[in-house]
Amino acid sequence: MKSLVYMSAMSLLLSVLLFIPFCLSLDLDEKDRQLNEGDRLKEYHSRAYQWPLPEMNPNTPGWRKIYDRRMDQLNAVEDIGERYNGWIQTIGSGLVAPNFTEFGWGLTRAPQHVVDTLKAALHAGLPKARYEGDVEVIEGQNPPLFIPLPSNTTHWVLNELKEMHENWSGVPLVGSIAYGLRVYQDGASLLMHVDRPLTHIISCILHIDHSETSEPWPIVIEDFQGNTNEVVLESGDMLFYESSKCFHGRPRMLKGGWYSSIFVHYYPVGWDTESFDLESHYAVPPHWGDDAVSLENDEDKLIVVGTSIKEPNCEHNWCSLKNSVKWYGPAIEGQVITPKWSRETRSTHEDEL
Ligand SMILES: [Fe+2]
Repeated sequence: MKSLVYMSAMSLLLSVLLFIPFCLSLDLDEKDRQLNEGDRLKEYHSRAYQWPLPEMNPNTPGWRKIYDRRMDQLNAVEDIGERYNGWIQTIGSGLVAPNFTEFGWGLTRAPQHVVDTLKAALHAGLPKARYEGDVEVIEGQNPPLFIPLPSNTTHWVLNELKEMHENWSGVPLVGSIAYGLRVYQDGASLLMHVDRPLTHIISCILHIDHSETSEPWPIVIEDFQGNTNEVVLESGDMLFYESSKCFHGRPRMLKGGWYSSIFVHYYPVGWDTESFDLESHYAVPPHWGDDAVSLENDEDKLIVVGTSIKEPNCEHNWCSLKNSVKWYGPAIEGQVITPKWSRETRSTHEDEL
């Protein structure tokens, strides 16, 4: 999650670069990569990108519907820098990045010994937890707290959970980071976003614990079939997700108390962790900088906040919550619940899910 700050900085740099000095170039980072709009368009055409997009990735009707609407929304964003940032997130997740699973998410139980260790660290650290710092995707009057884990613990978490992620994704993985423990506080919301495309590919949100006073606080995630899912996790529930593919967040406000998770990220063996992010820039269609269009429906208004997005004219800043599919933990050990998961396949927990 922290890496979103990096992503934002890079995207902003590019947005300034691409819009204002169209004939200039500027260093992108320490690797001295350079890009201007003319060079970018050469890359766009050399890769044979097309507009309108002939296919999405995956090319399902539901995924296409989500992204067709989002791209229309982006054409109406007034601020050109924000619009470019929105295009990077949208084209990167909807088209450029490959998918590894059928739906993009799944719900299961984490190993109990991992949950127990992290829960103990959480409760030991809560009394002296410090502020996490500025996290641009999190809104609310009470900023999140952070309980740092020793590096040997985060490495242990990455190792303990790796095989489960490999089984879910179907590919061998390299551990990237286990980030936490984050503690959201009363009034927080997490804007919809995708994670860093260099290293946050196959991931999970492991919910450690929440205060007795907090109301159920669903994670919202889009899937490859076009569903918007709201998943309420219980302590020890683990949400697998393709975190740089599927927009996710917690646009509803946390009511009462606190809520803590750890975010665990992997990337496939052989993944281009140096420059995969550049491909999203190359894929942005040439018309991205045209004059802003008007929207027919006020509800479709989209605001880009750094690397995240929100729809301010809909309740909870996200329109598709009106038609969301709702899921409730606790999950079932040894099973991965997805939209195709059938109640008939269950042996227990009939009332919980
Ligand atoms: Fe995220």
